[in-house]
Amino acid sequence: MKKTILITGGAGFIGSHLVRLMVNKYPDYRIINLDKLTYAGNLENLKDVENKDNYTFVKADITDAEAMQKLFQEYQFDSVIHLAAESHVDRSISNPMSFIETNIVGTVVLLNAARNTWKGNWEGKRFYQVSTDEVYGTLGETGLFTEETSYDPRSPYSASKASSDHLVRAYYHTYGMPIVISNCSNNYGPYQFPEKLLPLMINNIRHNKTLPVYGDGKYTRDWLWVEDHAKAIDMVFHKGENGETYNIGGNNEWKNIDLVHQLCDVMDELLGREKGASRQLITFVKDRPGHDRRYAIDATKIKNELGWEPEIQAEEGLIRTAKWYLENTDWLENVTSGAYQQYYKEQYAS
Ligand code: NAD
Ligand code: TYD
Repeated sequence: MKKTILITGGAGFIGSHLVRLMVNKYPDYRIINLDKLTYAGNLENLKDVENKDNYTFVKADITDAEAMQKLFQEYQFDSVIHLAAESHVDRSISNPMSFIETNIVGTVVLLNAARNTWKGNWEGKRFYQVSTDEVYGTLGETGLFTEETSYDPRSPYSASKASSDHLVRAYYHTYGMPIVISNCSNNYGPYQFPEKLLPLMINNIRHNKTLPVYGDGKYTRDWLWVEDHAKAIDMVFHKGENGETYNIGGNNEWKNIDLVHQLCDVMDELLGREKGASRQLITFVKDRPGHDRRYAIDATKIKNELGWEPEIQAEEGLIRTAKWYLENTDWLENVTSGAYQQYYKEQYAS
């Protein structure tokens, strides 16, 4: 095997797309997917690769220092692509502590395990931190986040990701660990847990439930097809410079209300409903506290230096996404039974 790569959080939304890409594209890499399988982790996301020779799954918690040290000793990873995280802003508002534990402490535990194992022999080694554009805070009507934009996180989620990015950089400057970081905009596509905007709306449209749009609905996000993100990660992992940061975005800004309208129209078409039927379900609800008004990425650096650009445009991506959820209702039913019902009740209680 040419490389032994630890991917953390590989049973989650983005992680599962990345694991699939890496396992299939690089048969001579050994891919170890480490995941705690929280509510957001699901091995059903990886059914098609679970029996591949170059793939291994390990159930573990990244905050468990002893377990991480043992794992590094056993597998002698030469690279880490770190995605494991608590990832939902609303949950970070109601329960910040698990974000501090997993996103900050967990990242340091992994950095320490890598440092103790690599012992300053950095040749061929790489620690890749997968991060978010939310660390940059919020934009007004104009402007874009560049790699030079100062960090200004505003939610417990984004503050915990910002903190872990700083720590990863600190290990580069202090110990010389070869690191790279990418900060990506909002992803969408198959296997996203239906607490996030698009799959939540798709699930509610299916069940003719109200579509809860926060505040005035004019909050803006830059949406990226998840497989385009996985391809960008592959490129940054192989071609990115040590110590550098790369912004990844879809060049695809939508106000939430416009995106939900577009989704409603796609769903009406797919479900054979009268045009406009699903839009009737939209309800404006209480805003998220500290809600960031606008995120938008300037992805010039990754385009110019590494040659990455998004391939799937939003109109096509939305249709693909809606179709996937409608063709995979078993998956959706599984993840929305049990604890999800309680979450939904508490989050959307008026
Ligand atoms: P996700 O919530 O779908 O998946 C997270 C995964 O991490 C799950 O499989 C979960 O079981 C696992 N996990 C959580 N705590 C763990 C722990 N203590 N130990 C081991 N595993 C643990 O998240 P996602 O949307 O796939 O995001 C993945 C990464 O990408 C995160 O670091 C997130 O900050 C970042 N990111 C996400 C987006 C987005 O739009 N979703 C955008 C930019 C960056
Ligand atoms: P989300 O998918 O939670 O991603 P993030 O907060 O990381 O950007 O939310 C995307 C946008 O949609 C955000 O502006 C909040 C809004 N939103 C709603 O209006 N209603 C909802 O039920 C959810 C989950 C999000």
